[in-house]
Amino acid sequence: MAEHPAEVQITPEAIRGRKGGAPIVCLTAYTYPIARLLDPHADLLLVGDSVAMVLHGHATTLGATMEMMIMHGQAVMRGCRRACVVVDMPAGSYEHSAGQALASARRIMDETGCHAVKLEGGTDMADRIAAIVYAGIPVMGHIGLQPQSVEKEGGYKIKGRTQEDSKRLLADAQAVEKAGAFSVVIEGTVEPVAADITRRLSIPTIGIGASAQCDGQILVIDDAVGLTVDRVPKFVREYADLRSAVADAAQRYAADVRARRFPGPEHVFQPKGKSAP
Ligand code: KIV
Repeated sequence: MAEHPAEVQITPEAIRGRKGGAPIVCLTAYTYPIARLLDPHADLLLVGDSVAMVLHGHATTLGATMEMMIMHGQAVMRGCRRACVVVDMPAGSYEHSAGQALASARRIMDETGCHAVKLEGGTDMADRIAAIVYAGIPVMGHIGLQPQSVEKEGGYKIKGRTQEDSKRLLADAQAVEKAGAFSVVIEGTVEPVAADITRRLSIPTIGIGASAQCDGQILVIDDAVGLTVDRVPKFVREYADLRSAVADAAQRYAADVRARRFPGPEHVFQPKGKSAP
């Protein structure tokens, strides 16, 4: 029997309750059809700010805007019946103050109807998380490699390679937990450190480029189905090859159009009373 009966919506509290239990299946989703396809299989769908890169062709997630996140959040919510839907807070929408963070989180919740928001940061963002949670909005944390800091850090740097960095990561994770987050993404962090943080926290950890010991895993959907056209990160396993499928379909369609094999008689309309020859 399925762990969650169809149509029972999985809440952030239910995700929190999965700590130490069956691994939590998470994927990103940005559009209605993909949400429809993933909803029966995933526990949590993240409308990640990676949408700026994946669908809009920006170089980094810093290209994401509130309007972009809200529009994709609404599309995903239309396609979801059971998965817990989390929408990313874009860079610039929460860092300035707890008040700004709360106003942005409220706007995302009100305009999308999603179940929770996610923001990047550890000890430095704990007061923003606490303010949002205090107002009754569930928050997912995000520590380790934080893509919104790519310009500040001069690239995507794997975390936890030194003892000092590992200590800082644990402090970040504990600050996010104490601030009231219902779960935390650990991204781009060396395996033993991610596994250790998972053992020490009472909330679920969701790994990406982290550890199989995390309480759940997340991948960017376009990476998982082999649709990513630029560099595929080391931590990705491709479960399909949609790049080849799309290129092959486009090539066969082009050949049919050029040879006038498409449309066929079954694809065109005839005047009333006449049937296709
Ligand atoms: O934006 C995103 O897709 C994310 C995941 C990689 C966790 O934050």
